[in-house]
Amino acid sequence: MRYKIVAGNWKMNLNQNQATQLTHDINKYLSNNNLPKQIKVVIHPPAPYLANCVNYISEDNNTTFGVGGQNCYTQASGAYTGETAPEMLKDIGCQYVLIGHSERRKYFNESHDFLAEKVNKALETRLTPIFCCGEALEIREAGTHEAHVETQLRESLFHLSKDDFSKVIIAYEPVWAIGTGVTATPDQAQDMHAALRKLIANQYDSNIAENTTILYGGSCKPANAESLFSQPDVDGGLIGGASLKADSFTEIISIMMKCLAS
Ligand code: 13P
Repeated sequence: MRYKIVAGNWKMNLNQNQATQLTHDINKYLSNNNLPKQIKVVIHPPAPYLANCVNYISEDNNTTFGVGGQNCYTQASGAYTGETAPEMLKDIGCQYVLIGHSERRKYFNESHDFLAEKVNKALETRLTPIFCCGEALEIREAGTHEAHVETQLRESLFHLSKDDFSKVIIAYEPVWAIGTGVTATPDQAQDMHAALRKLIANQYDSNIAENTTILYGGSCKPANAESLFSQPDVDGGLIGGASLKADSFTEIISIMMKCLAS
């Protein structure tokens, strides 16, 4: 099902009080603003705060507002010191999990195969994977960005059945735009999202491609959200820095509502 999604990746930021306050403020905003059913809001707090954040989502928002892990492991339990099982995320009320963020690929050497295993396990646990892909600057400059992102999907997602693939959300996050203040232009984002949709149509079918939610991430903020979200193949954003403050994050949600209404 293709949704409009505004997701916040808090990365390794905030303390417990700030995480609680931010969740409370977003929840309050959603309670005061009736969001259309097509829009979902997701937060990805650091692992130690997840359970607490889930508890700050009120009953009236629980179909709109979801919590997700920033990562998960490939096993349900066992001697894997420091890891978090998808089952544990599910158990505390998470609905989503980020898989393959460029920071995981870069700092933790997560391979295509490992990410494919994580995707499988998340789906088995009925968590919605938000699968991140995107190219580094030198790949963009060499003009091979579409081929690069194609490989990321092919190696970690295209083993999935149609049914399973249709449960995955994709986030295109060009590495050169993450945390740099340099955003992809609306045309660059649209071109890549359209290429991804075409790739999915070729691999699966056009119906699945049309129904895949594809988010953009990389220096997305209130000042550029409207131009990005109004692109036909951009279904929302995975927001880093601008998701750490209630006012900027809720402003991005309001921009999404405006784009959907127009
Ligand atoms: P920024 O919005 O801070 O560039 O981060 C994007 C991101 O990596 C979200 O996952």
